[in-house]
Amino acid sequence: MNNKINSTQTVDKTKKQKTYLISTWGCQMNEHDSEKMAGMLDGMGYACTDDIQHTDLIIYNTCLVRENAELKVYGNLGELKALKRDRPDLIIAVSGCMMQKKEIRDIIKEKYSFVDIMFGTHNLHKLPQFIANHNQTSKMIIDVWEEGGEIIEGLPVQRKYGFKAFVNIMYGCNNFCSYCIVPYTRGRERSRNPKDIVNEVIKLSKEGYKEITLLGQNVNSYGKTLENKISFAQLLRMIDKIEGIERIRFMTSHPKDLSEELILSMKECTSVCEHLHLPFQAGSNRILEIMNRKYTKEKYLEHVNKLKKEIPNISITTDIIVGFPGETEEDFEDTLDVVRKVGFHSAFTFLYSVREGTPAEKMENQVSDDVKRKRFQMLLDVLHPINYEANKKYEGKVVEVLVEDTSKNNKKVLSGRTRTNKLVHFEGNKDLIGTLVNVEIIKAKTWTLEGKINEK
Ligand code: 5AD
Ligand code: SF4
Repeated sequence: MNNKINSTQTVDKTKKQKTYLISTWGCQMNEHDSEKMAGMLDGMGYACTDDIQHTDLIIYNTCLVRENAELKVYGNLGELKALKRDRPDLIIAVSGCMMQKKEIRDIIKEKYSFVDIMFGTHNLHKLPQFIANHNQTSKMIIDVWEEGGEIIEGLPVQRKYGFKAFVNIMYGCNNFCSYCIVPYTRGRERSRNPKDIVNEVIKLSKEGYKEITLLGQNVNSYGKTLENKISFAQLLRMIDKIEGIERIRFMTSHPKDLSEELILSMKECTSVCEHLHLPFQAGSNRILEIMNRKYTKEKYLEHVNKLKKEIPNISITTDIIVGFPGETEEDFEDTLDVVRKVGFHSAFTFLYSVREGTPAEKMENQVSDDVKRKRFQMLLDVLHPINYEANKKYEGKVVEVLVEDTSKNNKKVLSGRTRTNKLVHFEGNKDLIGTLVNVEIIKAKTWTLEGKINEK
């Protein structure tokens, strides 16, 4: 969960400016939605705060992908009850993927009746209206659209950073992987018009942004829903031409739609970073089929080989699910085999979590928690030395780092990322935040690199 959204507005205590606090769970799509909500609130004269005790508005922007994220929201909501009792004027809103489920809205209505506003993923642009209506009526407002309508362009955005930005290129997902709730919460796939995307990036570049991350549930199928068809590779080439943008990233790629054309454009576009997040989820062909992933282990490995051949210094990261229904020891061995063969730079690893309403929920032979946990640990034991080995190759090299922040523990230490998305720590002045610097890597760790600024 990430609480912080920087605001251009500072709190003026004499004027009693109203404040908001947004807590965000889940993916980058949600993070960016929160930035849009922050933009609208700034426009309404609110300022951002992290002081939960005194804020006027709390928004929980929720995630439904795994059960633990869902449970945490209930836990946190429970803690707000006393706050609302002491300060009845406080507005509490819940938004995001959880709100797309009627059953969850009913639970909140019943057990957390102090919540003032509930809205979903498709109508967050109505936030100012929800607040105004609530202020007038003091009634609980529930407004959730089942499906996403036309894409709303031009919403104000209050971005967390001044040098790297998220840009949506599409919304929703048509893939219906059998474990996944996202197609039910984010609706059908809809691509943004390329002109709107390019204009947004041009504007960002004029404002001094150096890095953009193009967001979509499956960016590789970008453009398929547009009247004038265009591929993701073509979009990348258009954005690559925009001056001032030094780094282009994108998330997430589905292996079934990874084309040669895309690999080639990644190779040829100088701003596109040498990093690909390519979730493989499971190694066994049998499990991949039941997951409805529409590729095989062999096809995945073929993609990886092509990527490594065309872009030799590429870092490949992934998502892996352990304990999908029916997963045998042999199936799990296939997952370990892929991990060993690819040499992932890092991976998000998940215990399979039953999601109500997905096809996998109904599947028999669910794997027991004990077995899931045992396999999960085995996976980490294989994965971590591989991640370390990948990092070790950086020792002695000089890499370009976009400086992002000071280290949490030591303000004299800066943190930033390489083009390959490695987190690097090194000593330096915080004025360097937002700039590109060359750093010599001194020491590799499993998840981070340590270095020193290379003055040459
Ligand atoms: N259980 C566990 N992990 C899941 N993911 C999506 N749905 C589930 C689930 N039901 C993981 C996938 C996806 C990532 C965003 O979350 O690995 O790529
Ligand atoms: Fe979920 Fe699959 Fe769509 Fe990704 S591609 S959001 S895992 S359904």
